[in-house]
Amino acid sequence: MQPAKAFTINARGAAIPVVGYGTMEFPEPGKAAGLVAHSIQCGYRHIDTARKYGSEQWVGEGIRASGIARGELFVTTKVTEDNAKADDFARSVDTSLKTMGLDYVDMLLVHWPQPRVPLAETLGALAKAKRQGLARNIGVSNFTVALLDEAMKICPEISNNQIEYHAYIRQDKLLAACRRHGLLVTCHVPLARGVLLQDPVVVEIARGHKKSAAQVALRWLIQQENVGVVPRALQNWEIEENIDIFDFALSADEMARIDGLRDRNLRVVDPEVRRPVWDVG
Ligand SMILES: NC(=O)c1ccc[n+]([C@@H]2O[C@H](COP(=O)([O-])OP(=O)(O)OC[C@H]3O[C@@H](n4cnc5c(N)ncnc54)[C@H](OP(=O)(O)O)[C@@H]3O)[C@@H](O)[C@H]2O)c1
Repeated sequence: MQPAKAFTINARGAAIPVVGYGTMEFPEPGKAAGLVAHSIQCGYRHIDTARKYGSEQWVGEGIRASGIARGELFVTTKVTEDNAKADDFARSVDTSLKTMGLDYVDMLLVHWPQPRVPLAETLGALAKAKRQGLARNIGVSNFTVALLDEAMKICPEISNNQIEYHAYIRQDKLLAACRRHGLLVTCHVPLARGVLLQDPVVVEIARGHKKSAAQVALRWLIQQENVGVVPRALQNWEIEENIDIFDFALSADEMARIDGLRDRNLRVVDPEVRRPVWDVG
């Protein structure tokens, strides 16, 4: 299998491997580092973690066990909204790096907006981490159009917005804003946590390509401009399947049929506390 590193989305100086391995919630920590190592061995070059997930240690161990050089990999981590103040932010980045046993990350994201701390303070700390060489690239996550417009004025170095995006949610306004700002979009919950995989349209298209529903759901995303994905899987066969999506393409008609599912407007990640006012449409 060709390493996914060969397939990157590029913008504002950042080049992110288009398929990453998501590491939120490993129910069996004993197996977690092995899963990360397996993902790298079967071609993933992007690993997505966060301070909040508790997976940073397994990501570091998995990278070391994989036998692939650090420089070949793209590691993303995130600072939670509880650490939005500058001092807390810097401490969180240090803790992430120590926990992973890494000197730098390739992408550092503000995990969620924090309305109680001025955005300029948080973004100042984000930009400082980049200046210090602790992060090669910087970005945000779960930022709406309004927040993104504000963030880009304060910190034009931002190159990535990691957002919920899959075939069951319409994100046209936010995608347009990301494109207007020249940002890469990374889709979290790209399989809508599995809900999408039973969809009759997705299943039928998958059958036609002799692929799985997961592969079609991911392919629909990466065929869109500057869009990458970070699916999470706990089975080796799923990990292998989710990156084996470069040997087929969806036709314009198939893309349009899947586009038609978005009005279901299923938002999977919608925390009650500090949720921003989401863009609709
Ligand atoms: N920035 C943010 O705020 C944010 C929020 C949420 C998630 N994320 C990131 O996005 C990543 C992905 O999100 P997620 O893990 O919540 O959801 P997801 O990737 O949409 O879906 C994961 C679910 O799909 C199943 N699955 C995966 N591959 C499959 C396949 N090939 N066939 C059948 N089922 C398959 C998994 O099953 P098993 O578990 O049984 O393998 C799991 O139940 C996270 O791990 C995290 O890195 C970021």
